Amino acid sequence: DWTMAEFRKTKIDEIREQVGDKRVICGLSGGVDSAVAAVLIHEAIGDQLTCVFVDHGLMRMGEAEQVVSLFRGHYNIPLVHVDASTLFLKGLEGVTDPEKKRKFIGKTFIDVFEDEAKKIGGAEFLAQGTLYPDVIESVSFTGGPSVTIKSHHNVGGLPERMDMKLVEPLRELFKDEVRELGRELGLPDIFVGRHPFPGPGLAIRIPGEVSRDKADILRKADAIYLEEIRNAGLYDAIWQAFAVLLPVKTVGVMGDGRTYDSVCALRAVTSTDGMTADIYPFDAAFLSRVATRIINEVKGINRVVYDYTSKPPGTIEWE
Ligand code: XMP
Repeated sequence: DWTMAEFRKTKIDEIREQVGDKRVICGLSGGVDSAVAAVLIHEAIGDQLTCVFVDHGLMRMGEAEQVVSLFRGHYNIPLVHVDASTLFLKGLEGVTDPEKKRKFIGKTFIDVFEDEAKKIGGAEFLAQGTLYPDVIESVSFTGGPSVTIKSHHNVGGLPERMDMKLVEPLRELFKDEVRELGRELGLPDIFVGRHPFPGPGLAIRIPGEVSRDKADILRKADAIYLEEIRNAGLYDAIWQAFAVLLPVKTVGVMGDGRTYDSVCALRAVTSTDGMTADIYPFDAAFLSRVATRIINEVKGINRVVYDYTSKPPGTIEWE
């Protein structure tokens, strides 16, 4: 009879065993997985753990503030906040291939972690919130030939040469189990219930070349969409909802004037583990309200479309 309380105890022993008296660095992404991994590891080894929140400039609105306040305020776990946005955004200039984006971001995360490890006098281990579906999907497509669908940055996106060893206590778990473990560890409900957010962040929601301006535009549209979802009481019924900024401009008319701006796509899916997903069937009034707000409030977007693709054949993220 398997319970989360037992899992927690077993993992704590395993982490202590693996790490000994060495130092561990844990990368926080703003998502649930890395937060749960960090809190669990902190419980196991206390101040041998240093958490690093790397802001790659591709976070959602308010994300950095939320993570910093959770860790420094609620848990009192030491947290280094690195603004690496210039490093990431410069490196992404001219990169349009989805796998190249993912690989670059994965490698740059490791560079930043290794730098931070040096600053604290060396860390032998890097902790990540890798889940079971991340492992499977980076390796092969279930039931099919062995093809990489996407290099999830905390698995297949890691560079081959890395000095640190990995600590991945959530590797056997599915998302709902991670949430249960998070509750078991006392993480606030509002944090545990957050929609998943991918490590490469908004980069994989901006098909084509990424830039700071595009990320700023997308962040605003995404925040409006999520605010409307929360106001409508739909947040918890949806696995994941987000906006995508398309590399397509279309003609519009606003007041007496012509506009020529970008298209924003809205995505919302239901799922239990992220491996398969169905589109969320919003009613038309809801979608029109969101579209109107985004077009009125976000400079640079003049058209909004809704993505009707399930997984498979689509994936949840666009890249
Ligand atoms: P896809 O797009 O593969 O996404 O259908 C399945 C789930 O995984 C999330 N995702 C990621 N999570 N690092 C992560 O930690 C990644 O590189 C990554 N890529 C996708 C995605 O948001 C969805 O919940």
